[in-house]
Amino acid sequence: MADDTTVAPGVARAREALKDVPHEPGAKKKDPILVADSVVRRFGGLTAVNVNHVEIPRGAITALIGPNGAGKTTFFNLLTGFDRPDEGKWEFNGKSLAGVPAHKVARQGMVRTFQLTKALSRLSVIDNMRLGATGQKGEKFWPSLIPGIWSGQEKEITERADELLVRFKLDAKREDFAGSLSGGQRKLLEMARALMVQPDMVMLDEPMAGVNPALTQSLLGHVKSLREDGMTVLFVEHDMDMVRDISDWVIVMGQGQVIAEGTPDTVMADPRVIDAYLGAHHDGTEHDPEAVAEEIAEEEAAADE
Ligand SMILES: Nc1ncnc2c1ncn2[C@@H]1O[C@H](COP(=O)(O)OP(=O)(O)OP(=O)(O)O)[C@@H](O)[C@H]1O
Ligand SMILES: [Mg+2]
Repeated sequence: MADDTTVAPGVARAREALKDVPHEPGAKKKDPILVADSVVRRFGGLTAVNVNHVEIPRGAITALIGPNGAGKTTFFNLLTGFDRPDEGKWEFNGKSLAGVPAHKVARQGMVRTFQLTKALSRLSVIDNMRLGATGQKGEKFWPSLIPGIWSGQEKEITERADELLVRFKLDAKREDFAGSLSGGQRKLLEMARALMVQPDMVMLDEPMAGVNPALTQSLLGHVKSLREDGMTVLFVEHDMDMVRDISDWVIVMGQGQVIAEGTPDTVMADPRVIDAYLGAHHDGTEHDPEAVAEEIAEEEAAADE
């Protein structure tokens, strides 16, 4: 195991910031970048999100985990202005963001990634990057924006885009349509594009889904490098190996609520977390928690080989 003298500065900073934080839902952080209170989103009779209180630690990588349908994506949508809550408020860098539309949220420094849309797949890689500078997504903004942003800022935006393409090893694809990229390259493009607004916080919804193993390590490396650059990362992920590998802190959602928080080790050993995953099991069969814990231990042992 690496000790504190060998870890990267960003990792050491994150550990220091989190070391006295209690491992419990709603735990207060020393310097939260985002604080949300009483955020509720209902769809008809279903309460998809019902988050009482949550704080996201600045400068750290936080994983948001939970079974399918727990409300993770809906919570992302609310925080980033892509959906409106029925109730609730939240502050980012001390400023209220409730009711602020998505592109303005992005320009205030909080940006999220999506799966690439069809519209974006018909734009070249470099044009996707340039469009990212506006915080907008979707082709309807594209023609109207060109004259506006291109006056005076074109050079700066293009330079920044090209630097990021080099960093993400996409420079050879600069003129290609985004639609011609592999799944993993699209994920890289999405991440690079998010950085065009020079965000303080990057939110990634399942960044590894559909990525071929050859690109996984490179994506993980990029996420870690965001922390080294002082950014805050909040990501949704189902792959627990990845969560364990890169997160400083884990927040668990179940049925719309935050049900556990802590370091990866404590959270993954938490019976409430194991129960939440079992409760959402799709095949409806009964499971014995001890048997599942054993299975998890076996998988971990296999992964360590
Ligand atoms: N637009 C919508 N209309 C109606 N119900 C919705 C809508 N969006 C989400 N839901 C419901 O809200 C609940 C939470 O969904 P959400 O997509 O946020 O879960 P998730 O935690 O992201 O799940 P997954 O891990 O499968 O991505 C689910 O029951 C879902 O069916
Ligand atoms: Mg989701």
